[in-house]
Order: sequence, then structure tokens, then C-alpha cells
Amino acid sequence: MDQIRLYWKNATADAVGEKHGVTDKELKDIAPRIRELTRQMSEDRKAGKLKYRDLPYDEEMVDAVHRQVEHFRDRCDALVVLGIGGSALGNIALHSALNPCTYNLMSDRTRPGPQLFVLDNVDPDQIKSVVDLIAPKIRKTVVNVISKSGETAETASQFILFRELLQQKLGKKYKENILATTDPKGGTLREICNREGYRTLEVPEGVGGRFSVLSAVGLFSAGMCGIDIDAALAGAADMDKRLKDGDLFKNPAAMISAISYLLDRKGKTTSVMMPYSTSLYSLADWYRQLWAESLGKQNGLKRKNVFAGQTPIKALGTTDQHSQMQLYREGPNDKMITFMEVERFAQKLAIPSSMKDVAALDYLAGSTFQTLINSEKLGTEYALLESQRPTMTVVFPQISPQAVGQFLYLYETAVSYMGGLLEINTYDQPAVQLGKDATYALMGKAGFAELAKKIQSVAKRDSKYLM
Ligand code: PA5
Repeated sequence: MDQIRLYWKNATADAVGEKHGVTDKELKDIAPRIRELTRQMSEDRKAGKLKYRDLPYDEEMVDAVHRQVEHFRDRCDALVVLGIGGSALGNIALHSALNPCTYNLMSDRTRPGPQLFVLDNVDPDQIKSVVDLIAPKIRKTVVNVISKSGETAETASQFILFRELLQQKLGKKYKENILATTDPKGGTLREICNREGYRTLEVPEGVGGRFSVLSAVGLFSAGMCGIDIDAALAGAADMDKRLKDGDLFKNPAAMISAISYLLDRKGKTTSVMMPYSTSLYSLADWYRQLWAESLGKQNGLKRKNVFAGQTPIKALGTTDQHSQMQLYREGPNDKMITFMEVERFAQKLAIPSSMKDVAALDYLAGSTFQTLINSEKLGTEYALLESQRPTMTVVFPQISPQAVGQFLYLYETAVSYMGGLLEINTYDQPAVQLGKDATYALMGKAGFAELAKKIQSVAKRDSKYLM
């Protein structure tokens, strides 16, 4: 199997100076902590506390996904995924990485699966436009509602709407067009499933939303859209083998976390993920949630008020060279940048020689877009180096399900190491709740009246500040 690789020289002091890069000594000093974290993770895993690490081997889960894909595949022209955060970003990342960006525009005959709409917002204009588009093919529309709890306002409201649409058009048979992915035992959505009798898949117990892409949560829509999910899992399993090594210099997840941790302490409080591939851009989006929700914590396991966490940013090469690069090179030196590079694109795509006679453009003649994009990446890496900006590169030999599976597993494990180094709880997200509760309060949910009163002071706009 082709393996993705991590190139980290340009994050070192040798490349960008001691102030902005990691030194040999710092790496040597942190190596024993990495060894200890590796041992701890292995123990936690054996004790069933790190379930996401075992997903690539969960045959029961993947069989269940295949069964549902087989069931729905031929009766589905449009798949609408309802979910948010960890219940949506993995679906989008797999699909964008492994299917053409024109997927939904392809004809039914050439598209490798149904049209896919992942609705991860409650923007009424967006929802209505999808509703209108699928209306003529509602009989062949499948709704995959994904929610562990079933109470997330965004997903629940969308589900109420789409369930009603299906009911109106299909009568009692509407249930046949719904697949719910939810908690195996409890929660509001599971109760609804039991009551109404939908087909279901499970959000695995002990796997948080942002670690669930390689479970039924992310794999069903991928399988429906023609992605080889077994190959993605095989890629993740292959990466798992590489991440069992307690030696910092042999374990890329450990190295990503050690460098991120050390650079964070040197003031690189922003971490930019910058793929030089439009297909991989949504993986950067997925990474943003993983890094932000896992690491952004006020209190540590041993100390209060640590206010941990780098701010993850996504950027796209080459597009953002013409938007962000001025800041990245000359603005505050507070960023580490991780490039994603593709060695072999599916298409090299030649640049025609027809403008060879234009002196300013003759260098392009006869070259390829693959060479151009990778030259731009290398050029940017060099330019950042000249400004003492630390970078790393994750090299994809090619964009394949195996490589994407490796990447997802690599960063899930890297965030576990990073949380260990920061001594925080990587797997909770306590700060998300207040905003959710405030929404409940504003929408009149029972039990939130007191909070609704408190919010009134914010709701009432002070005209002194309104212009
Ligand atoms: O990563 C997470 O845990 C969150 O992003 C959740 O996935 C998100 O809030 C959706 O929750 P639920 O699956 O309960 O609807």
C-alpha cells in the first residue's frame, strides 16, 4: 500500500532558527513523554477507552454499512444527509476527497452513486433549495439522519421537515426512505426509530462525533457514493501499525503533536492546514473541528485556567497564496503551516503549447498542471522558510481511499497525543453546551425559562451602539 509521509525538516530550528523552530534538544527532551503517552494509549485502548482506534477492525460495523448500502443503492437517486459537526464533516471530507467536484452535476448514468446533499446548517435558503431540487425525485430520495443524541436542534429540525416531506408524498411508505444513524441504545432519535421502525446504523458507543468518520457515521454516505470504504479502513489500519511505535522519530502522529506542542509554546498559536489540492480542502475543514474541539480547553487535568489549544485555520493552495500569503509571511510569526501535497494527481493535465510565442508565458508551454501546482507548493514552502515560518508537509503519493483513511487516522491519533502533552481532556467539549442551551431557551424549550430571561439583556439591542 502507498503510504502517506510526513516531512518535518522545515519546522526545525535548523530550517527557521531556534526562535521559530523545534531544536534537537527539545525533541530529545519530549521523546520520553511521547513514549509514556504511547504506552498509556495502548493501555487505554486495551481497556476499551479509546474506541476510535479500533474502528478499522470493526467487521460487524462495516458489514452493517455494506448491508444498508446494498439495500438503498438501487432505490436512491438523491441522498440527503442530515447532521452537524462530527456527524457531517467526515461525510463531506470523504466525499470531496474521493469523488470529483462535479459529482452532483454528473448524469445519473455516469455518477457512481446518488446525488449527495449534506445539510450541516439550518440556513432556510439552503435547505429550501435542496428541498426544491429533490422534490421531483422524492420517491428515490433517501434521508440519512445522523445524530447520536437526536436532540441537536439543527439536525432535529431538518429531520422533522424531511420526514414530513416524505410523509406527504409517500404516505405510510415514507419510512422506507429513511436511515437513522444514532446511539445503539438510548437517546431521542433511537426512541423515534423504535417507535416508527426505521432502518438504523449505529453511532459507536464511546466514539465522539469528531472521531466517528471511520464508523457508520461517515462510511454510509461514502459507500453509497461509490467510495471503496474497505480500502479507506485498510488505509487506517495500515497507519495504526505505524502509530504503535513509542519512538517519536518513527511515529508520525507523535511527531505532529510534538512539533505542534513545542511550536505552540514558541507562540505558534495558529495552525494552518493548507492542502495543495481542492479535493483535500474538506479534510482541512474536518481537521479544524478535530483540533479545535479536542484541544481548546480552559481547564487541564491537573491545573485550572490553562486555556489550551491552537487555533486551526484552513487555507487552500494555490488559491490562498493570492489571499493569505502576505499575512503568513509578513504578519505576526504566530503560525505553523501544514501543507498537504499530492505527488501524482489522477490527471497530470497538459498545458497546451499554443502560447509559446508569448515570451512572458512560454515557460508554461508543454508543462502540466500537476507540475505547476506542486511547483507553487514548493515555491511557497521556500518563501515561508525565507521568512522563518515553520512548515510541515503531509505527502500523499496519490489521492486514494487508502491514503485518505491513513490521513484521518493519523490526525485523530495526533490529537490524542497533543491532548496528552497539553494534559487536557481531549474527548469532551464542555464549552459547546451553553450556546446549545441558549438556543433551546430562545426557542422556548421547556426547562430553559431562567436562561431565556438572562439572554434578554443581550437580545435587547442598545441603540447607543447601533449605527
Ligand atoms: O464532535 C462532536 O461531538 C459534535 O460535533 C457532535 O458530533 C455534534 O454536536 C452533533 O451531535 P449529535 O450527533 O448528538 O447530533
